[in-house]
Amino acid sequence: METATIAFDQFRPLAEDACQARILDARAKLGAQAVILGHHYQRADVYRHADLTGDSLKLSKLAAQTDARYIVFCGVHFMAEVADILSKPGQASILPDLGAGCSMADMANLSKVERAWREIARVLDPDEHVTPVTYINSAADLKAFCGEHGGIVCTSSNAREILQWSFARREKVLFFPDQHLGRWTGYLLDIPPAEMPVWDPDEELGGLTPQQVKMAKVLLWKGHCSVHQMFQPQQILRWRAENPGGMVISHPECRFDVCKLSDYVGSTDYIIRTVAASAPGTRWLVGTELNLVNRLAEQYKSQGKMVQFMAGTVCMCSTMARIDPQHLAWALENLVAGRVVNRISVQAPEAALARIALDRMLAVS
Ligand code: 13P
Ligand code: SF4
Repeated sequence: METATIAFDQFRPLAEDACQARILDARAKLGAQAVILGHHYQRADVYRHADLTGDSLKLSKLAAQTDARYIVFCGVHFMAEVADILSKPGQASILPDLGAGCSMADMANLSKVERAWREIARVLDPDEHVTPVTYINSAADLKAFCGEHGGIVCTSSNAREILQWSFARREKVLFFPDQHLGRWTGYLLDIPPAEMPVWDPDEELGGLTPQQVKMAKVLLWKGHCSVHQMFQPQQILRWRAENPGGMVISHPECRFDVCKLSDYVGSTDYIIRTVAASAPGTRWLVGTELNLVNRLAEQYKSQGKMVQFMAGTVCMCSTMARIDPQHLAWALENLVAGRVVNRISVQAPEAALARIALDRMLAVS
């Protein structure tokens, strides 16, 4: 029998301890019916409830593998969309707060990408010469666009293999929405900067000349992560001067000069693995989101590892942080009552095309 949705207003004033207890209680009642997936940037008071954690690639694989009826995603919107696209019929992907978006994902949209495709067609046939590659941090319709046009999805941990896959098929790539991941990956493949111009979606022909488009190997969409753009080369230089022998590790969403000055560059999972594998006493400067850096600092303190945040100011993924314990408790208690709230559902034709691009990625990585 259907019951009415429990309103979120009842959860808003819940005190921290009471809220945590209600999450644990609802979680126990749901048992194997629900799985909670948590991204590494999730705040500590929510992350502790995740059954499984990972970077975007790992979480998409986990979402494709689980048999749980409810996939409760403590991450951001595009991650819950991917979970829905890769899940089996009868499963539901749930995002406890619909406001948990990704500002970078919003920097590209279908009409702008379609316009870019039409404008490139004035210079050369994109369906013959250009592979569209979308970072997983993008809406489902952009993944569908890639599925339809011989393109593919990438994450921060497989971008290199994905670009190699792309170049084996067509000689150029349109990479969106993160210029920094695209530029860093192109650099790893020895592509000169002049062959990776920035495509500004608000300019005619991306602000480029037809000659620049003809010469380009990678057209880099003018998009970025507002969190990772806070990290600056001067922060690394200052820290190195004060910490000789210390190691610097950054996420590839950081600017090129930050990545270039780092000892290691990689996805959130890679950052965790690298710090974990380092010798006791190692000092680390980390250029990625604050919740993850704080967790690493706490976790490895007892081994004498010093883990420091790269930026001088607090920079968190404020959209992911919208998934707070109150929203998690609300979503779980509704599931216990037999109501699915905040279901993320991608419509069938779009999901099928997006799945083609995601499956291509999963086959490569
Ligand atoms: P990862 O895939 O490395 O977890 O990165 C996701 C993300 O959004 C980083 O900002
Ligand atoms: Fe998006 Fe940046 Fe948040 Fe990652 S850290 S989810 S790219 S806004």
